[in-house]
Amino acid sequence: AGPCDIYASGNTPCIAAHSTTRALYSAYTGALYQVKRGSDGTTTDIPPLSAGGVANAAVQDKFCSSTTCLITIIYDQSGRGNHLKQAPPGGFKGPEANGYDNLASAIGAPVTLNGHKAYGVFMSPGTGYSNNAASGTATGDEAEGMYAVLDGTHYNGACCFDYGNAEVSSTDTGNGHMEAIYYGDNTVWGSGAGSGPWLMADLENGLFSGSSPANNAGDASLSYRFVNAVLKGGPNKWALRAGNAASGSLSTYYSGARPSASGYNPMSKEGAIILGIGGDNSNGAQGTFYEGVMTSGYPTDATENSVQADIVAAKYATAALTSGTALTVGSSISLRATTSGYTTRYIAHTGVTINTQVVSSSSTTALKQQASWTVRAGLANSACFSFESVDTPGSFIRHADFSLVLAANDGTKLLHEDATFCPQTGISGQGSSIRSWSYPTRYFRHYENTLYIASNGGVHEFDSATSFNADVSWVISTGFA
Ligand code: AHR
Ligand code: AHR
Repeated sequence: AGPCDIYASGNTPCIAAHSTTRALYSAYTGALYQVKRGSDGTTTDIPPLSAGGVANAAVQDKFCSSTTCLITIIYDQSGRGNHLKQAPPGGFKGPEANGYDNLASAIGAPVTLNGHKAYGVFMSPGTGYSNNAASGTATGDEAEGMYAVLDGTHYNGACCFDYGNAEVSSTDTGNGHMEAIYYGDNTVWGSGAGSGPWLMADLENGLFSGSSPANNAGDASLSYRFVNAVLKGGPNKWALRAGNAASGSLSTYYSGARPSASGYNPMSKEGAIILGIGGDNSNGAQGTFYEGVMTSGYPTDATENSVQADIVAAKYATAALTSGTALTVGSSISLRATTSGYTTRYIAHTGVTINTQVVSSSSTTALKQQASWTVRAGLANSACFSFESVDTPGSFIRHADFSLVLAANDGTKLLHEDATFCPQTGISGQGSSIRSWSYPTRYFRHYENTLYIASNGGVHEFDSATSFNADVSWVISTGFA
């Protein structure tokens, strides 16, 4: 049985079931998600390998080979058509055309389930999905349950990495108009024990970790790579539960009455569904979603415990984030442009600016050093890499406002994330493409001889689809110095 078979037998059926990694009903054979590729703008659906099975990642890999792909739709497996699509502007605008949010890269969150490769939804700041016309979701004070399997190590403190029930207008319509899982270390509203990240309930104008609108020591900081985050709410009761999605059982962090602050009892749920954003389309948060459902009715703890066992049995595990030319930590490398007319240029720095410069064996020692980079284990994720300047030890290539710059390692989580890159087989078919870990739709790209992290056909001038594949493909060789 899948999670939604278990909820159905508990008389709290799924009214929305979303996953890019697997079917959530044992009989489900339909599409899990849709991807769109950069080369020609066409889309394809990714099915499970078999009824109730893991996603057929090979379908995506083939369709997206030698180009980029975005996740355009996360289908609802419940049969209600509650699909998640690119979120529209609301109280806040997203970064895409007409204020829409960004779509997620199709390859930012590779995993295996029982040994089969699949992809989760890695959501950078600016990314969001929603369905503002969902059917069967709880409204008003009606009871509902939900869970989401997330990457417990991918979060931030911005508002709000959420999955669940929100406003149909994508605007803040007041306290109690949302009921969604929140994951991150935001402390503007509530917080739990330690320094986070925490599972909290986003009930609108407040992230709640327990009965007090502020701190609740019973809500533990979580550090599991795979987290199962569980939230349920009904008339004057709600609960927060979580556990390691790869082993063991759920802990209950709160179960009790609604918050005493006004507007949350009774609730005024509206029944839209959001993923990766706040109820008002606040879109500064980041996180990774693998699977999640929403139910009708208040599930029992026993039902949720059975779902947790099903998730553990799915055996989520990490998969390689890199491919192509292998890099050796500690070695010095050079990166040469492959775009016709630019093939004598290498990634270098002039002061803090990262650019391309013509470099050869007869260049000055200073220029050779400026165009040589020491490979380090990724500062934010050791499955990827960081690039330290040979002539300025302690300084790394990072992105800031999507430009690449040289910056001293100040030890912050943001610097570490901005300076972590995951090389993959060159998108053009030549060399390697250097993907940003934190913005996996974006790659090292030269544009007017200056370096950016660029997305294929995005809103910035340097995102231009013209010459994108060549501009993001680099030949990596031994460093000049
Ligand atoms: O409740 C926290 C956030 O407050 C909501 O997600 C958003 O709608 C508002 O900014
Ligand atoms: O480059 C994109 C973002 O811009 C970085 O993550 C952040 O440091 C800056 O604000």
